[in-house]
Amino acid sequence: EQIEKGGYEHFMLKEIFEQPKSVHDTMRGRLLVDEGVIKMAGIWDHIEKFKNANRIIIIACGTSWHAGLIGEYLIEEYARIPVEVEYASEFRYRNPIITDKDVVIAISQSGETADTMAALKLAKEKGAFIYGICNVVDSSIARITDAGSYTHAGPEIGVASTKAFTAQLTILTLIAFKLGKHNGNLGNADFMSLIAELDAIPKRIEDVLASTNELVQDIAKDFVSTTNFLYLGRGYNYPAALEGALKLKEISYIHAEGYPAAEMKHGPIALIDENMPIVIIAPKKGHYDKIVSNVQEIKARKGKIIAVVNKGDTQVSAMADYVIEIPETSECFSPIVASVPLQLLAYYIAVYRGANVDQPRNLAKSVTVE
Ligand code: G6P
Repeated sequence: EQIEKGGYEHFMLKEIFEQPKSVHDTMRGRLLVDEGVIKMAGIWDHIEKFKNANRIIIIACGTSWHAGLIGEYLIEEYARIPVEVEYASEFRYRNPIITDKDVVIAISQSGETADTMAALKLAKEKGAFIYGICNVVDSSIARITDAGSYTHAGPEIGVASTKAFTAQLTILTLIAFKLGKHNGNLGNADFMSLIAELDAIPKRIEDVLASTNELVQDIAKDFVSTTNFLYLGRGYNYPAALEGALKLKEISYIHAEGYPAAEMKHGPIALIDENMPIVIIAPKKGHYDKIVSNVQEIKARKGKIIAVVNKGDTQVSAMADYVIEIPETSECFSPIVASVPLQLLAYYIAVYRGANVDQPRNLAKSVTVE
């Protein structure tokens, strides 16, 4: 096992550090920047289904559901196809309206999650075209779908999903750009600049790992005895906030909630005092001014602010107690880059608390029963 961990103390840390490679592997053979093409047989062979779709419904559980929420932002922004995202467990029991004009995408690392599988079967029975985004090759979900794209993240051992999540985001990004290019909603110049930026994302992740690992480890020391955390973000980074909070809950057993930053005033703000740490994802592109005013409100209530900002940021940084810098990207890529220090933060807090990071209590890597 020590050899499998490749010198890292835990699989989770190894998998966090593998992300430049896993994202790259997920794009390999698909993203051909020089030719200006995204090649995805699963999409291309069924392009009429996507083109004529009334809507796309994404179903998933856990971390994969968070990837799905970001998929909604991506596909609606770039391909202008309406998207709904549902928990598989809710979808399957609420007699959902599904027709043969719907495309249902299931996202699942393991490809074995019982609720996701059952939801897909239901969608298939009702005539929808079903598509899988799985990491495990030849898994049950991969086998029952009409078509799909594998995330090539490699085996994920840590129960808390990290590299599978960023690989799922990579696939969803490719799908959104491909559909948008095809249906004319994403013009050629924008497409070319976006795919060039996507191609450089593995390098951005590498930079973030190098520049934030020690810093985040230090920050984590101050939160070992904390009992609550709030994670806030807007736009694409709202689901990233949900995922950051989930990582912390899963492995450190600290209660954490993710929220859209603007919703803070409808509840969570009542919880803010000097004992409440708030992780706020505040990149330049994506409602920055709005985030600044959210941060002011937190500051006025003495909340402890851990800000994830772009390099060179001044406004949010000036108010924050802790600043974690990530490179500036187009908004659609920021959840991939911002998730990395949040994974590290959850990891180091859990390690300092002496938790079993790779196998947290009560959780399973793959939930094959209801
Ligand atoms: C479990 C795992 C999570 C995962 C979720 C969905 O709860 O602990 O890490 O996100 O199942 O799993 P899937 O394999 O369908 O992505």
